[in-house]
Amino acid sequence: MISKKMEQALNQQLNRELFSSYLYLSMATYFESKNLIGMSKWMRLQAEEEHIHSMKLLDFIQKIGGRVILEQIDKPQIDWDSPLKVFQETLEHEEFITKHINELTDLAIEERDHSTRTFLQWYVDEQVEEEAVANEIVQKFNLIGDSKSGLYMLDQELGARIPSPNTQTKQNN
Ligand code: FEO
Repeated sequence: MISKKMEQALNQQLNRELFSSYLYLSMATYFESKNLIGMSKWMRLQAEEEHIHSMKLLDFIQKIGGRVILEQIDKPQIDWDSPLKVFQETLEHEEFITKHINELTDLAIEERDHSTRTFLQWYVDEQVEEEAVANEIVQKFNLIGDSKSGLYMLDQELGARIPSPNTQTKQNN
C-alpha cells in the first residue's frame, strides 16, 4: 500500500506523461502543417510512447492499491518559430520530466517505499535515453544550420524512426 502523499505524486506524474503525449501530438501536427512528414511521424511515435509511459503509471497505481485520479490536461502549445525550436522545447520538456522523476524517486527513498522505488527505476533509465535522443537531434539541427537540403535529409532520417522494441516489450508488461 502506498502513502497518500506518494499516491498523489504518482497521479501528478501520470498527468505530466499524458500532457507529454498531448504536447508531442501537437508538435506532430505542426510538422505536418509544414510538410515535414518525417518529423511529424517521429513526433507521433513519441506521443505514443508517452501514452505508454502514462498507462504504466496508471496500472502501477492501481496494482499497488492506490486510486487513479485523472486531472485536466493542459492545452499544449500549437505553433513554434522553427523546427529547431520544437526539438529544443522537446529537450527542455524532457529535462523537466527528469527533474520530476528524480523528485518522485527521492520521495520513494524517503518513505522507504521499495516497490515504488523499483518501479521508478524504469523511468530513471528511460529519461537518460529521452534526453540523449532529443539532444542529438538538436545538435544535428545546429550542424545543418539554414541548409534546406540538410533539413530535407534530417526529415527523411527522423521519418525512418520505428517504435522502440524496448517500448513494445514494456507495453506488454
Ligand atoms: Fe515520459 Fe518523455 O518522458
